[in-house]
Amino acid sequence: MTLIAEPELRFCDRGGIAPFLEQIDEWLLPGAFYGAQHTWPQLYRSDGDGRFCALFDAERLVSQCAFRIATARTDQGLRRVALLGSVVTDPDFRGHGYAQRVVRASLDACKASGADMALLWAEEQGLYARCGFVAGIDETCCVVESGIANEDGVVREATIFDHARLHSLHSQKPLGIQRTPRAMSALLTTPGLSTFVLERSGEVVAYACTGKGADLQGWWHEFGGSDNDIASLLPRALDLTGHPQAIVIVPPYRNALVRELGPACIEVATVAGPMVAKLTDQVAATVFVDGLDSV
Ligand SMILES: CC(C)(COP(=O)(O)OP(=O)(O)OC[C@H]1O[C@@H](n2cnc3c(N)ncnc32)[C@H](O)[C@@H]1OP(=O)(O)O)[C@@H](O)C(=O)NCCC(=O)NCCS
Repeated sequence: MTLIAEPELRFCDRGGIAPFLEQIDEWLLPGAFYGAQHTWPQLYRSDGDGRFCALFDAERLVSQCAFRIATARTDQGLRRVALLGSVVTDPDFRGHGYAQRVVRASLDACKASGADMALLWAEEQGLYARCGFVAGIDETCCVVESGIANEDGVVREATIFDHARLHSLHSQKPLGIQRTPRAMSALLTTPGLSTFVLERSGEVVAYACTGKGADLQGWWHEFGGSDNDIASLLPRALDLTGHPQAIVIVPPYRNALVRELGPACIEVATVAGPMVAKLTDQVAATVFVDGLDSV
């Protein structure tokens, strides 16, 4: 397979990339039940705000990088951040520097849009290090066993009537990506996602999410409420999914969660957090991205 000429770099919105979704699914998520649209709705769904930097050979997609600009609550106050993902090149044209080109051009666009920093979840770091990313902070995760928990309150699956309350719990976190109630509601309807709540005296006090399209299956990746309530919710929610064990990503501000989980937590480990590229000379900020916002 050869290209007609040097591929042309273009920026487009979701409408411009929509005709290539089937190809993107095949290249990025081969064999997966859910596609990119179901996995990263904020990028690909019609109500999302994804932007795409892509190389085209005439009307054929060769390589792309997707991103969105968001506002993050950080330890340095509110910051504009760029979340990058879906970096993919047509298998016939890999190794020609096309991904590097779209990632670099995306970073320039993110900087021009006012983002202070960019975050990207990488399986291999070399390509992104060449584009200016450095390793981010390691994140703690733990393995939790089902069943062992105090029986305080009621644990059940979340319904649409809980969305406003879950948005309020999300908004109270010290670190996270800001969402409108509407965006939160849309995220909570992502296929492949299960959300459970702990209700006490008729009020939802905590929530926990697992799975998200083709991504994060078997991982509990987003929580709201106090550490104590989440520790009470998690093992019982896991029980309801029918899985004996699962991996839990522990946000950096949840210092007490592992201790509160007690014997339900059987192992603690660290995993690489997203890579970071600084786009301005602002003081570096600590950012944590909940699973529903990861791209
Ligand atoms: C990763 C990928 C986008 C690279 O595209 P490309 O156009 O060949 O990239 P470039 O030519 O600019 O750079 C090639 C580098 O990508 C790196 N790379 C290969 N697979 C990679 C991966 N899964 N994640 C990150 N980097 C990868 C290699 O280190 C290679 O460097 P090398 O030539 O020194 O060995 C392409 O292999 C791909 O589409 N893979 C499937 C989708 C994917 O895994 N995306 C990454 C999500 S984080």
